[in-house]
Amino acid sequence: MDAAAPHAATAKPLEMHELAPYAEAPRLRDGRPDEAGITLAWEDGEQARLPWLWLRDHCACDACRHAQTRERLVLPLAAIARLREARVEAGHLHLAWQDGHQSRFDGGWLHQRRPGVEAPAALPAPRPWPEGFRPERVDHADFTGHVEGERAWLEALLRDGLVLLEQGPLADEEVSRLATRIGPLRPTNFGARFDVRSKPNPNNAAYTAIGLALHTDLPNWRQPPDIQLLYCLENDAEGGESLFADGYRVAEALRREDPEAFRLLSETPIDFRFQDEEQDIAVRAPILACDAEGRVVEVRFNNWIRDTLRLPAETLEAWYAAYHRFWALLHEPRHRLEFSLAPGEMVAFDNRRVLHGRGAFDPDSGRRHLQGTYLDRDMLESRLRVLAREA
Ligand code: OGA
Ligand code: ZN
Ligand code: ZN
Repeated sequence: MDAAAPHAATAKPLEMHELAPYAEAPRLRDGRPDEAGITLAWEDGEQARLPWLWLRDHCACDACRHAQTRERLVLPLAAIARLREARVEAGHLHLAWQDGHQSRFDGGWLHQRRPGVEAPAALPAPRPWPEGFRPERVDHADFTGHVEGERAWLEALLRDGLVLLEQGPLADEEVSRLATRIGPLRPTNFGARFDVRSKPNPNNAAYTAIGLALHTDLPNWRQPPDIQLLYCLENDAEGGESLFADGYRVAEALRREDPEAFRLLSETPIDFRFQDEEQDIAVRAPILACDAEGRVVEVRFNNWIRDTLRLPAETLEAWYAAYHRFWALLHEPRHRLEFSLAPGEMVAFDNRRVLHGRGAFDPDSGRRHLQGTYLDRDMLESRLRVLAREA
């Protein structure tokens, strides 16, 4: 059954109910079955072994994968029928099981999924801002008219946590139209879309004319909004420049310069809370969240909606010292990105990484009006994967 089949250059890809492209991946050259599985060899010299159970579980026939939804139908398998025959033909793997079931696997599809390789990294990894960071700028017309423009915008946002769109129309709700290209707007207690301008009876510091120190939005939610979009419609008031700092970069500076402060902020959950007549939204979480490898993966920082500090009496002062240290680092000029949004410009940023703020403005000197909304990061990643299908 050691089936070395000559590779036909014209081999047609097999239907695997998979939309990401796999037709260009190397074809199978050979398969060596044993009792428990098969060792596959591809025409690029790669080899990998797969157990029969994995292959049976990933069968792409219409009984095992739904032909329309592409979802798995085959149930979790404890034991499977024994194999009757394995054959490599025209670059693909054909299996016949003792119970009569037949499975066919595209050789390129298998190559992409062989043990030991990561899923294709279509997504840019986050990169902390370098000294003197200048954000990527994408023209509105490129974003809406060209795949390349949209891709550049998405990649910069995932990589840098901040990207600018420019030369957009001064149109009400343009922010919602742009966001909807990527995914559904993420609603919060401030609505799915919000207007930032100074209003009577504000329920939020953003709806006044006062300056806003660096913060993240809605850290009082278990899952704060991932991505924030702020679209500028008017900005001729004096002041009101936009401020940003890369939370990942500043957290690393804190770790270097004051490891004990970093430890306290990353290990001590505190309370965040927003209350108005209708709502009382609260969560207990640390300022800095790290993953299993100790990398900072989330910053929650919003001094207005920090609730009562409930910590053991002996930790209170040390926590304040650490918090102040982080605050001071965040606001240092070397960590600060500052610019004025022009009408028709939109800034998008990762609200769980990049802190934002603004200078005070004088509402008597002119008007300032931003429209904002939020998006889930999953939708950005999804959009990039969909664009990669066309590449
Ligand atoms: C906000 C906010 C910044 C600005 O609405 O959450 O921080 O520039 N606005 O007004
Ligand atoms: Zn099947
Ligand atoms: Zn804000």
